[in-house]
Amino acid sequence: MMETMIVEIRAALEAAATDEALQELRVKYLGKKGLITGLMKNMRDLPQEERPAYGSKVNALRSEAEEAFAAKAEQMKAAALEQRLAAEKLDVTLPGKATPMGALHPLNQVYREVRDIFTGMGFEVVEGPEVEFDKYNFEMLNIPKDHPARDMQDTFYVSEDIVVRTHTSPVQVRTMLKHEPPIRVICPGRVYRTDDVDATHSPVFNQVEGLYIDKGVTFADLKGILGEFLRKLYGQSTVTKFRPGFFPFTEPSAEVDASCALCHGKGCPACKGAGMIEVLGCGMVHPRVIEACGLDPEVYSGFAFGLGLDRLTNIKYGITDIRLLYENDVRFLSQFV
Ligand code: DAH
Repeated sequence: MMETMIVEIRAALEAAATDEALQELRVKYLGKKGLITGLMKNMRDLPQEERPAYGSKVNALRSEAEEAFAAKAEQMKAAALEQRLAAEKLDVTLPGKATPMGALHPLNQVYREVRDIFTGMGFEVVEGPEVEFDKYNFEMLNIPKDHPARDMQDTFYVSEDIVVRTHTSPVQVRTMLKHEPPIRVICPGRVYRTDDVDATHSPVFNQVEGLYIDKGVTFADLKGILGEFLRKLYGQSTVTKFRPGFFPFTEPSAEVDASCALCHGKGCPACKGAGMIEVLGCGMVHPRVIEACGLDPEVYSGFAFGLGLDRLTNIKYGITDIRLLYENDVRFLSQFV
């Protein structure tokens, strides 16, 4: 029986497929009430002289069995590892799944260019609220209540005294009220007007305002800085033209044309054959505005400008319908990746 037991154990171990089965066998043979332990207990029934030989045989069997169990446990561990490696196998030669790249909206791309040019010339970026006091949007910019100058901007009124800002110019006022000159800021943001939607009008659009206030700032500074800005944006060969204009908050005021970035002044559909496109409004900040903001117009002067970001973007990319900028159609937007 003792001779056959190790064979029996080996066969049973061979057949065991799970940790549980292995554990059961361990109890059956090596446990406190197991078969090999039982053999040892049988020793009592033997004559004294046979006991040592019998004892060493059982001990040998026990060691053999323990070795067999250890070998099996080792083998099962190796098999489990093998299986896990096979399951987690990674084929690095498989073609990847492409994740489509998003991109900045064209308005943001052009805004960043504008921002980088001005910050490169020492301007800081400030922002103001889109829901604004009438006082900041109009009155302190020299546009009194009931004055015909208000007709220039069709306004969404929230209440008597509050509007949805029609331009970014109120941020000029907020900045002058808060900061001592020298002031050099640009103010980007959404603005709103009660315009019906068509190819060139949208009730919401984007402007970038600029303001430079210090002692001794002149129209020459205005021309130099805005000219440089347009050459940086559209290329060194860009030609600019400053035409007299009117804005209540500047005096004198000008409207600025730049040679068309697409045809370089030759005339094309984008500039309607004119070769030049109006790109911004500007002027020397009106002394009344400087004074309303608590600064002395005898000491301080400066210039301001406002540019339409939508316009700049459309010119840059040859877009002929402003609605495309606001519909968020990915077929349109994915062209700007
Ligand atoms: N706020 C003007 C508009 O929306 C644009 C503008 C013109 C802003 C001249 C200025 C400026 O600061 O000096 O039409």
